[in-house]
Amino acid sequence: MSDGSDNTFDAGAYWQERVVSGADLSVVGHRSMGPVYNTHIYERRIEVLEQMLSRHTSKAIQDLRVLDIGCGSGFYTGYWSARGVRDYVGVDISPATVQHLAEKFPTYEFINRDMTEPDGDGFLVDEPFDVVTVFDVFYHIVDDDRFTRAVDHAAKAIAATGCVLVMDQLCPERYQLSRHVVYRCRADYLATFSARDLELADDELLFHYLVPPLSGSRVVDLSAATVFKAAGFVLRLSGSLAARSAAALRRFDARQRQQGRRVSNSEMLVFKRPGVSADA
Ligand SMILES: C[S@@+](CC[C@H](N)C(=O)[O-])C[C@H]1O[C@@H](n2cnc3c(N)ncnc32)[C@H](O)[C@@H]1O
Repeated sequence: MSDGSDNTFDAGAYWQERVVSGADLSVVGHRSMGPVYNTHIYERRIEVLEQMLSRHTSKAIQDLRVLDIGCGSGFYTGYWSARGVRDYVGVDISPATVQHLAEKFPTYEFINRDMTEPDGDGFLVDEPFDVVTVFDVFYHIVDDDRFTRAVDHAAKAIAATGCVLVMDQLCPERYQLSRHVVYRCRADYLATFSARDLELADDELLFHYLVPPLSGSRVVDLSAATVFKAAGFVLRLSGSLAARSAAALRRFDARQRQQGRRVSNSEMLVFKRPGVSADA
């Protein structure tokens, strides 16, 4: 899978600087678009998360043991807490995140850890998890060996009937867009999980155009990012314009879904052990 591109990126330093305690969703969501627009992005993410939970977990949600790899701003921590989940562990490479979330959610456990490091002490495998989430983290792991190790940790952490839920931007071909972003293709995910005895049980495209789709060409994708950045600058000036624009794009995306149209964009992938039924 490796293409010899820049893999010297220091993830720990980058995230410590980027994720500031108490910051809004645009720190971890779509950075150009501001908090109002990002609220719509996260609402759609929750819609798909709930769809997958209803299909792939049989326990009541509050009884699930959840591991959130790359817990970031704590958006999903807040979601699990609001849904009554008692048993939650959040892991993040940024000490500021972990400290902030530990204060905000005192009954939950938070671990400051780089999930791409070798697992010397098996710190996550003692009590397996029903649900392991890795949301918008893998594409920030630019080194392929580190990516493989992170998948390994996620795979080892699930219970026999558990599932790993991955949210990531998929691309027609693997390529590195910037120092801290590498997009992989579906085949890369399937092969890496399959080598750990996990198969794709379900998937759902999250967005068509609410966030820019990926073409696989650096020039096209950087141009699209520039257009979005310019739009984001305007939308940050007006909350109501941001809300109306996001709502219109969500409706447009929904129509694309109904018509069965697909683009390369963010997807939720659900991985399970072979033979574990959809409503395990
Ligand atoms: C784009 S944010 C996504 C945050 C959250 N999952 C969400 O979707 O809102 C990526 C998060 O992953 C964390 N992260 C990046 N690389 C990591 C690693 N190697 N180990 C653990 N956490 C990592 C970052 O600190 C950051 O909080």
